[in-house]
Amino acid sequence: MGRVVELKHPLVQHHLATLRDKATAPDLFRHQTRRLSLLLGCEATTSLPLTPCKVETPLESVECGQVTERIGLVPILRAGLGMCDALLELIPEAEVWHLGFYRDEHSLQPVEYYQKFSTSPPSMVFILDPMLATGGSAAESISIVKKWGANQIALLSLISAPEGIEKLTAIHPDVDIFTCAIDSHLNERAYIVPGLGDAGDRIFNTL
Ligand code: PRP
Ligand code: URA
Repeated sequence: MGRVVELKHPLVQHHLATLRDKATAPDLFRHQTRRLSLLLGCEATTSLPLTPCKVETPLESVECGQVTERIGLVPILRAGLGMCDALLELIPEAEVWHLGFYRDEHSLQPVEYYQKFSTSPPSMVFILDPMLATGGSAAESISIVKKWGANQIALLSLISAPEGIEKLTAIHPDVDIFTCAIDSHLNERAYIVPGLGDAGDRIFNTL
């Protein structure tokens, strides 16, 4: 059974306040997205397996551990790109594969427009998307990543709606969800309330 983990760290609350603020300009919004993604990334990687290795310090040899698993990052275009550098900072050896979706504003259904995957999938995949609203885009993304062949998948989102979490846990009960906040509800246009508005537009200054 997948876990739903809502981060309670005080720094998460601190940086979310700025991220949510409508007065926050794109440059600071990008920085806050990155800071929160670092905190999310730390939490989402606590159970990564380690391969033992021996290292020579200037004083003696010591048993250490290394992450040798093939790890894939899948940012969902566009807004997921804002989270990707932070995860690469934590896992520099990770592979980055891309999926593009936009949400049709009338039907609210996800529309896929880009997919770049390798023939052999990494064993572990972190899907990156700051907003989990209805859950349509995330559910489709996870289905595609499963079809690709990844056997361990986690979704990292900055803000989630209860409706999206309910949908994802019903369709993909095996997938872990890590999020900085579970908000109140979706409004009539399926925006997360209180949320932060349109994440992609705020990251890329296209409001
Ligand atoms: C946003 C967000 C998710 C999706 C969430 O992307 O980044 O991908 O909406 O909504 P859902 O859970 O109801 O599917 P958007 O469609 O605005 O595209 P963008 O990233 O290009 O701005
Ligand atoms: N996409 C966003 O960027 N924000 C929302 O609140 C919902 C979907």
